[in-house]
Amino acid sequence: MSATTTASRGQDGDVEPDGRHGRRLAFPDGFVWGAATAAYQIEGAAAEDGRGPSIWDCFSRVPGKVADGHTGDVACDHYHRYEEDVRLMAGLGLAAYRFSVAWPRVCPTGSGPVNARGLDFYDRLTDELLAHGIVPYPTLYHWDLPQALEDAGGWTSRDVAYRFADYAAAVHDRLGDRIRTWTTLNEPWVAAFLGYCSGVHAPGREDPAAAFRAAHHLLLGHGLAASALRTAGAAEIALTLNLAPVIGPDDAVAAVTRVDGLLNRQFLDPALRGHYPRDVLDIAERHGGLGHIRDGDLEIIHQPVELLGINYYNPSFVSSAPGEPANPAFPGSEGIRFDPPAGPTTAMDWPIDPAGLESLLLRLSRDYPEVGLLVTENGAAFDDVVRDGRVADAERVGYLDAHLRAAHAAISAGADLRGYLVWSLLDNFEWAYGYHKRFGIVYVDFATQRRIPKESALWYREVISRNGLSYGSQGDE
Ligand code: FCB
Repeated sequence: MSATTTASRGQDGDVEPDGRHGRRLAFPDGFVWGAATAAYQIEGAAAEDGRGPSIWDCFSRVPGKVADGHTGDVACDHYHRYEEDVRLMAGLGLAAYRFSVAWPRVCPTGSGPVNARGLDFYDRLTDELLAHGIVPYPTLYHWDLPQALEDAGGWTSRDVAYRFADYAAAVHDRLGDRIRTWTTLNEPWVAAFLGYCSGVHAPGREDPAAAFRAAHHLLLGHGLAASALRTAGAAEIALTLNLAPVIGPDDAVAAVTRVDGLLNRQFLDPALRGHYPRDVLDIAERHGGLGHIRDGDLEIIHQPVELLGINYYNPSFVSSAPGEPANPAFPGSEGIRFDPPAGPTTAMDWPIDPAGLESLLLRLSRDYPEVGLLVTENGAAFDDVVRDGRVADAERVGYLDAHLRAAHAAISAGADLRGYLVWSLLDNFEWAYGYHKRFGIVYVDFATQRRIPKESALWYREVISRNGLSYGSQGDE
């Protein structure tokens, strides 16, 4: 991504003409509409039916790591309320539901015997979804590594990649007759660089060399699991990455390229092309060497993948700033400043930039044309309030509407985008922010566990039923 190929900051207007003139924006037939969640963020039941502790159970208990000491012990209590939640999904007309399987439910100590009671939950959930006509999209790793494996080195240990493949095969063994699309990892960049380098996520380590090792072993785990799933008969394999356009002024081309390498190409190129980008290898080499990358690893990592899952929230804005220390999550980013957003932001202080989704989809179509695309996460946190039993979240509707217009524009320009899964179905445990950040289209009152579909949920139901956006952009209605 060069500094000049994407819209400049704050310019989100290139999707406007479609909307402002009130034309119907129909999505392709069969476009997959859905919502996403993750195990630790919603399930609760942290010590039930033989589940072992994960790194998030332990990390959330370290004072100061998660806002107000929140944990996922109860979360949305989805483990016990999944039937109600599936009814809610069906009521919204969702065609697809992306959830994650908790590795420590299936393998309480990460390896060794499989815990059948843990698999029973996903068995029941899968059947419930199918009974309501909703296609299950499981992700096998959404950051809840069994703590026993972290104690043995975590993702810095090569062995964990092999244990991941064993676990993937065990889940397939139980659910493979009903699941078509298998996603191996969610956002390995976050798992490696926030987990092992900046330390703001579990397991909370602060060691750049460990992060590059972890990133490689996550990719290796993806390849080994993809191969095991394929051998077992999986129809479609997917990998979900957090991807973002990196944008900077014309004099910051080198900064843009470096951050793009660390964030995007470090994962895209090995998984989809079978090699690491040279610029990323050079940075990794300066941070602990390349001894962890063995002959043959890239062939293992480079498995056929039918779908690339894209989690898009915002672009990264960078500029050249000699003397600036490296960003703690981007080892090797010395001399680069990560600029705060200038335009509108969400409650996370993340910039709102739908044009970034369009340019990202087009870039992926151009650079990796052989893989189908699925937006596996997109959405926004805002400070929602319940009034008279309703949640009027117009800002979220505006956010989703604008991003869907951007997705539509990308499809019109040729992107092979197959579906869109909103993050998130439910307000949930937002990692280091605890329960303070609400991303759901359904409000959760955590004291009572009452669910209240927000206006965005009702709006989304209409979008799904029309397979498109029928009116002018949301603000014009
Ligand atoms: C993504 C995560 C997801 C959620 C959203 C807001 O990075 O995959 O679990 O936290 O961000």
